[in-house]
Amino acid sequence: MDMEPLTFPEGFLWGTATAAHQVEGYCTNNDWWSFEQRPDAIWHGDRSGLACDWWHHAERDFALMASMGHNTHRLSLEWSRIEPSEGTFDPAAINRYREMLTALQKQCIKPMVTLFHFSLPSWLSAQGGWCNQSTVGRFRRFVGYTVEHLGDLVPLWCTVNEPNVYAALGHLFGEHAPGHRSLRSYFRVLKNLLQAHGEAYRLIHSLRQDAQVGLVKNVQIFEPLCAEDWASLRLANVLDHLFNSLTLSAVEDGKLRFPLTSGLPSYGPLLDSTDFVGLNYYGRLRTNLRPRNGSRLSVLQLTPGAEYSDSGRSGPYGEIYPEGLYRTLKRVARLGKPIFITENGLPDATDNQRPRFLLTYLAQVHRALQEGIDVRGYYHWSFIDNFEWAEGWGLRFGLVAVDETTQARTPRPSAELYSKIIRRNALTEDMVRAYAPEAMHQIFATTSPDLAQ
Ligand code: FCB
Repeated sequence: MDMEPLTFPEGFLWGTATAAHQVEGYCTNNDWWSFEQRPDAIWHGDRSGLACDWWHHAERDFALMASMGHNTHRLSLEWSRIEPSEGTFDPAAINRYREMLTALQKQCIKPMVTLFHFSLPSWLSAQGGWCNQSTVGRFRRFVGYTVEHLGDLVPLWCTVNEPNVYAALGHLFGEHAPGHRSLRSYFRVLKNLLQAHGEAYRLIHSLRQDAQVGLVKNVQIFEPLCAEDWASLRLANVLDHLFNSLTLSAVEDGKLRFPLTSGLPSYGPLLDSTDFVGLNYYGRLRTNLRPRNGSRLSVLQLTPGAEYSDSGRSGPYGEIYPEGLYRTLKRVARLGKPIFITENGLPDATDNQRPRFLLTYLAQVHRALQEGIDVRGYYHWSFIDNFEWAEGWGLRFGLVAVDETTQARTPRPSAELYSKIIRRNALTEDMVRAYAPEAMHQIFATTSPDLAQ
């Protein structure tokens, strides 16, 4: 029997996402650059160095994206270039970003721009960074300047990338810059980032009525390993509250809930402060408070026996779980806003899993669309291999492989598949047969009719 193609809505945005520090090269004036110099901070002692050389040659990769049919790209701005010292803005940096954004527009690639994606200017980090409440005002000033000078080229803005991941990895677990380990810092940073988002949202709208502005939220699924295990279920719910709900509800009703509050229950600028939800989805974690057969208790773990992507320095990066994307889409749809999947991807150096990953995850996006969920676009993480924060060059997320020494690009088979999907605006039986025949049933059983009609 022939399978009906799974067609996406007309005008659906297809592209990839990147972040400045991971691709630009020589971001020497930010906190990540100094963090990288600490012994053992980065896996294998890697450094970002020239990264993907975007500061000088991003246009080459933009041309490659265009040749593959991409119609959007999400990139971030490096605050330390735009404001290299406190209160001093660099017109040359703005000019370079204008060149890059114009190059994207010329290639018919719609830019989505993130204002804060993990890296802070060194001068600001020396003042305590996001632990310091006054950073909210500093961010506001940076956003004001940037939007005044770049706003005409940017239809879609993301204020803050993954406030929870930033707060957790940088301030609770000490794995990212600035390397803090404190639960108090986690909450303080999260609260400041949410306030900064609310302020930026209002400010951007006051400067440009036509802009669409959103927060990017990494939604992690927390689930007990064993459904009947009440204690593990409780733990999963608590983690979900701290990691997901606190943030999602704040941008909806403006309320900063426990433990973010200390007498200040709501924050005006946060109320209804997102025109769209930027959803980053990477996977799920299982809670388990029941030791079994004398094995070591692992309170937070991946699903045993599941398929995993490549391993980083502390084990497998994540579980391949396409249905999780559908579930998180359903969840964030409750906010009643359009959704962009602003990141989704996996480390897979050999590209053995990525083609099937693309097809099965996108089938779940199609399933959500069929149920009426307003998904407007998909940004795969990432276009090219790049400096993967504390994992250095050890994890390869690119559709296109990069040799960071020679800067040679080699598109992986999944780049070609993604290009085919974009050009057809659909998943077809031929694609599945060619790239992941074993997933035929999984893909076409998920969903059926054509959305284009
Ligand atoms: C996300 C980050 C992004 C990249 C991917 C793999 O949490 O936003 O910069 O590191 O993970």
